[in-house]
Amino acid sequence: MASLTKDIYKAAETLQNGEVIAIPTETVYGLAGNIYDPSAIEDIFRIKQRPHFNPLIVHIHSFEQLNDVAAQLPSKAHTLAAHFWPGPLTLVLPKKSTVPEVITAGKSTVAVRMPNHPLLLKLLKALPFPLAAPSANPFNRISPTTAQHVQDYFEKEIQLILDGGACQQGIESTIVGFEDEIPIIYRLGALSVEEIEAIVGTVIINNQQEALPEAPGMLKKHYAPKTKTILVDDLDTFINSNAQLRLAVLSFFKQVKGENVLLKEQLSAKKDLEEAAANLYAALHRMDASNADLIVVERLPNAGLGKSINDRLQRAADHSQKTPDGEGA
Ligand code: TXA
Ligand code: MG
Repeated sequence: MASLTKDIYKAAETLQNGEVIAIPTETVYGLAGNIYDPSAIEDIFRIKQRPHFNPLIVHIHSFEQLNDVAAQLPSKAHTLAAHFWPGPLTLVLPKKSTVPEVITAGKSTVAVRMPNHPLLLKLLKALPFPLAAPSANPFNRISPTTAQHVQDYFEKEIQLILDGGACQQGIESTIVGFEDEIPIIYRLGALSVEEIEAIVGTVIINNQQEALPEAPGMLKKHYAPKTKTILVDDLDTFINSNAQLRLAVLSFFKQVKGENVLLKEQLSAKKDLEEAAANLYAALHRMDASNADLIVVERLPNAGLGKSINDRLQRAADHSQKTPDGEGA
């Protein structure tokens, strides 16, 4: 059983001893280790069952610490960091040679972010090294947004979970890289495209699956519940035409009913996309723990955070099914 603590000194000591612990962030919980300790980093990959070609995000507490890991800062990267850090923005930057290759999967770039969580920032300041941290879920499972989610996944594998409460944003950071100084979004996330464009102008979105994706978190089937999941535009029609199935239904603000609805939840009764994002993964965890045959999720309005949430849901959906936009397996 991993123990839950709010004591950053205990967390710092455990990390300095080369152990991996779980940390809270404003987006999702992470599985953290000292970036300079090869055995701790190896443990992260092993515990998460993550392939080594998938690089890790480095978490820092200051611009001074950014200098330790990034060799150079394109001017728009500087503008974005100045605006959104600490916050749910990950920048992909040319790496310093001192950043171990295992962190960056041999790439010449490193993904860095300054998280906006008071307990984590205190912990980072108490440590003489940055923390590498992927989301604290086994590869291809739903990301954790509470200490309990992490406990459910990894109670045997880790000793300590720094308990920072429920994550306020609830979906992963937005990842931005640069090609010829032009910002490219590799992963949609908690910072919306609109918020980024308001600061640096038009950006390119390149989060499609490729043979070797820039951000392997973008593999199509990712963040997936174990229960078969489907994303639909019209919940009522789907519920009515699938009377034989026991459904877990996740709606945005709509109230649904039906004899075949085993469990239902609304992400935001007041139609607030931020609230919907914060509730998303916890709701999916609960639906996945139910005995439903199928999780049915309503597609959100495709703007702002709705775009990021839809992107996650599309990846969670079972691609063996024909999806409404025509994508099949
Ligand atoms: O919100 C978050 O970003 C959370 C919290 C814990 O900070 N972390 C997170 O990490 O989501 P992870 O490992 O689950 O996702 C990191 C993504 C992966 O898709 C990885 O491929 C991409 O970042 N990435 C890491 N380094 C990269 C690089 N040098 N170039 C492109 N993508 C990179
Ligand atoms: Mg992840």
